[in-house]
This record gives sequence, C-alpha cells and structure tokens, in this order.
Amino acid sequence: MRRLQPGAGPTLPTIITLAFLFLLSSPMPTDPNPDEPAAIDLYLELMAKTLAASIYDESAWSVLNYGRPGWKGLRHPRRFASALFKYFLGQMAAKRSTILVKQWGFKEPERKDGRDFPFIGYTMIGLRRLENIRFCTEEVLRHKVPGDLIETGVWRGGTTIFMRALLQAHGVTDRKVWVADSFQGLPATSGDGDDWDLSRNDYFKVSLAEVKANFAKFGLLDGQVEFLPGWFCDTLPSAPITRLAVLRLDGDLYSSTMDALKNLYHKVSPGGYVIVDDYQSWASCRRAVTEFLDGLGLKPEIKTIDQDGVYWRKE
Ligand SMILES: C[S@@+](CC[C@H](N)C(=O)[O-])C[C@H]1O[C@@H](n2cnc3c(N)ncnc32)[C@H](O)[C@@H]1O
Repeated sequence: MRRLQPGAGPTLPTIITLAFLFLLSSPMPTDPNPDEPAAIDLYLELMAKTLAASIYDESAWSVLNYGRPGWKGLRHPRRFASALFKYFLGQMAAKRSTILVKQWGFKEPERKDGRDFPFIGYTMIGLRRLENIRFCTEEVLRHKVPGDLIETGVWRGGTTIFMRALLQAHGVTDRKVWVADSFQGLPATSGDGDDWDLSRNDYFKVSLAEVKANFAKFGLLDGQVEFLPGWFCDTLPSAPITRLAVLRLDGDLYSSTMDALKNLYHKVSPGGYVIVDDYQSWASCRRAVTEFLDGLGLKPEIKTIDQDGVYWRKE
C-alpha cells in the first residue's frame, strides 16, 4: 500500500471525483420564466401601490372647499340657505385652522388617477403619474442622460421615495434625489391668479422630520437623498445641484412653478424630462409654464399623463 507523504496534496482522481460529487449536489440553475414578472417589477409595483395607498382598503377623503354661494343657489331658497350655511361653516373652520373633509368610499380608478386624497398614503399623485416617473427615470438611465432627480413640492415625500426606490432597484449609486419643499405647506397666494389659497390648509403641512421618517420606513434614507427645506424662491437659486435628468414640479401655484422653472430648467440635461403635475388642472400653473417656455422661444411636445399632469423631453 502507498503511504501518503506528509504534506502531499490530494491526487488528480480524488479532485475529479470530489468536483463531480459537488456538481451533482448543486441545485441546477433554472431559466427565468418569461411569463413571470421580474423581481424589479414586483418591487416597484408594490412600492407604487403602497405609496399611493391603493393596496389599503381605507376610505378616501377630500377636503371641502366651500366658496361663496353662486347665483344658481340664489334662485332656490333652500339650496341657497344650505350653501350659505356651508360657507360660514367653512369660514369658521378655517379660522380655527380646521379643515372640513368628506369621506368617500375607496375607488380604485380614482386613486389610479390621483383624483382623491389618500388618508394614509405617502403621495397624492396616483398610480398613473407614478408610472410616468418610472418611465422618465428608466428612459434617462437607459440613454445615460446625466443628472439627478428632483421634485419641487413633495408633501409626505411619496414621489421622491419612489424616485429613490427606482435608483435602488436599478443599482444606481451615482445619482441623487433632491427633495424640495417648505415642509410647512403652501405660501399664501399673491395676485398671480391662483384659484385657491391653500396656505392655511394643514393637510398640506408635513414637516421635514416626518418626510425623513417616511424615507426611513422604506429603508431609503441615505446619502443619495438631499433635502432643500424652505421656500423655493430662497432655496432653489443657490441649491448645489449641478445637473438634472428628471425635474418634477408639484408646487401647484404660479409662483411656485415659475420659481422652479427659472432656477432649475437650465440644469436639465438634453434628453432629460420635465414633468408638471398641475398643468391641466391649475390654470395659473399652466400659465407659468407657457410664459416660461414662450420667454425662451421653446415649443416642446407636451404629452398628457392624466387629467392633471403633463411631461416633455428636453431637446
Ligand atoms: C400638492 S403638494 C405636493 C404633492 C406631492 N408631490 C405628492 O407626491 O403627493 C404641494 C407641495 O408643495 C409645497 N410648496 C408649494 N409651493 C411651495 C413653495 N413656494 N416653496 C416651498 N414649498 C412649496 C407644499 O408645501 C406642498 O408640500
């Protein structure tokens, strides 16, 4: 019998036998099933549904904004009395920083289009506008358009959380998400033709600490997220942003839209996307966009997302 020399390694037949046994014991790799959604789609779809609160069987609600009773009401005494009552009720509530809300049953199509206000959601823009953010972000990643992502007007942060999730899902580590908001609601309107003054509406007031906590709940609060707390007119001119690939505006008002365009549009890379949340539903927001583009002599192809939002690709 051959005696092994001290320090001698295993022989070639032993190595081949061991390798054969190892291969036999390893699980065979399975081909991905083309009919099954990829993990990345599953993650992003679940994120979108969670952020928009459309997986919860919660009731939706909308803020009641009782204006002055109109002439129509005057012709019907009962309707006029009811409108007058609601008007004074609304005024009294507003004076006490209280908002009146009406509860609605949860309706999936409404949440999809962002037409109601989620009670526990992290974004009010709905699933279609979230899908549009995914489309724009994946386009700039695919075409290597340089720059970060920003939303001006974030409320509870849901849209920017989704932007950060998109970077995470695609393994992008060299782009940031900028989160710009007063974190104390909307400013008062100042004769720019805005239809509503929402400055006293507490529903829109979400603190910086709360938004940061929301990012943390999804494990997405890290060095790739930058916050710009304050009024846009103060923060955006000096924001240390070099280049943007996606610019999303959701500050509603004429001044908020114009401040964002004036300070950020020139930073959007060619091939990057500009998204305006309130273009179709807020006349003065649309006017700000039109005046800004006209001033630069630009006529981009503006595409509709839903009843509120639009977007275009910067040439
Ligand atoms: C309609 S909410 C944004 C909704 C949000 N994008 C979402 O995904 O649900 C409007 C936000 O814009 C902010 N905002 C509006 N005008 C602003 C301004 N001039 N400066 C800073 N924040 C502003 C408000 O504080 C509020 O959070």
